[in-house]
Parts: sequence; C-alpha cells; structure tokens
Amino acid sequence: MNVDELIALLASCDGFYDSLGEDGDPIPVLPHSLQCAARLSEVAPEDEELVVAGLVHDIGHRLRPAHPVVHGIVAADAVRGLLGDRVAALVELHVPAKRYLVTVDDSYRATLSTGSIASLARQGGPLDAVERAALEHRPELEDALTLRRADEDAKDPDAVVPGLQHWRPMVERVAILASTTPDIRST
Ligand SMILES: [Fe+2]
Repeated sequence: MNVDELIALLASCDGFYDSLGEDGDPIPVLPHSLQCAARLSEVAPEDEELVVAGLVHDIGHRLRPAHPVVHGIVAADAVRGLLGDRVAALVELHVPAKRYLVTVDDSYRATLSTGSIASLARQGGPLDAVERAALEHRPELEDALTLRRADEDAKDPDAVVPGLQHWRPMVERVAILASTTPDIRST
C-alpha cells in the first residue's frame, strides 16, 4: 500500500460503520479516525507515529468487515510496509490495550461505548496473568494505552476536527521515516 492508497482507503470509511453498524459506535469509521488523530495530536504532538497510528487504527474494519475480532491485526499487517514496525505495533495493540485497561482499571469499563463493550467479550475479555505479563513486556504498551484512551474519546457525533487531507503530510513524513529506518528484525 502507498500513501495514496491509504488515504483512499480512509476516505472510503466515510459513512462506513464497523460490524455492529449504527448499534455499535455512534459514528462511522472515518470521523472516528479523524477524531482519534486529532486527540492524539493534542496529547502527544511530538509523536507523529502515534498520531498516524490513531488515524489508521480501525481500517481493519473496512478491509475485513466480517472479522472484527482481528481488525487490529488486519490493520497492522496492512500498514506495516508503509508506516513501519512501531506504527503497526501500536495499531495491533489497540485491541489488547482495551483488554489491559479493563483488567487493571475498574473505572475504565464505564468509559467504553456500547460497541466496545459488545466486542470486548469476543476479543477475550480481561487478560489473564500470562497475557498481562506478556503485554507488559511490550515497549509500545504505554503509547498503545494512550492511543486506546484517545480511541474512546473519539466517538462524539458533534465534534469538529480537521479533515483527512490535513493529515496527509504527516502520513508522508511517517512513511519516509519508515522507509529510511533499518528493519531491526533483519539486524
Ligand atoms: Fe477505534
């Protein structure tokens, strides 16, 4: 996938709801993604990889609509080549991050949308001790939790945020960075 194809894919999420339809998240995937990126640019303006991860984290719903449980993995696999390993990890971890927060923070469940609560059980519910320990070893965990909290804050039907083209230069910068960063797995 190149930048043009990614932007086109995101544009196709306008009016597209995840698998629960309008009974799930209250807004379609594109405005949700734009709100998530805008929120992350407020809380972590220096971290363009995290902001872009927020922008693309739910494209798995569009790529494989009938497979919501694996939407994080699908999205991560789709963007890894263009945006790099860290963005892919943050995207993949946005689902386990929800399970982690439900496990460690009793108040977090109350912040979840109807759709997020409905999908939580299908995604495995709270983590067991082994799953939790494995996640706590991931260097991306803290940033994935930041993404996840922005995800929950990004479902306001009345929010006014920058449009898709606003993020294109940032997506291009992250793609250039990824193309010039050595793949640590090959060293
Ligand atoms: Fe999301």
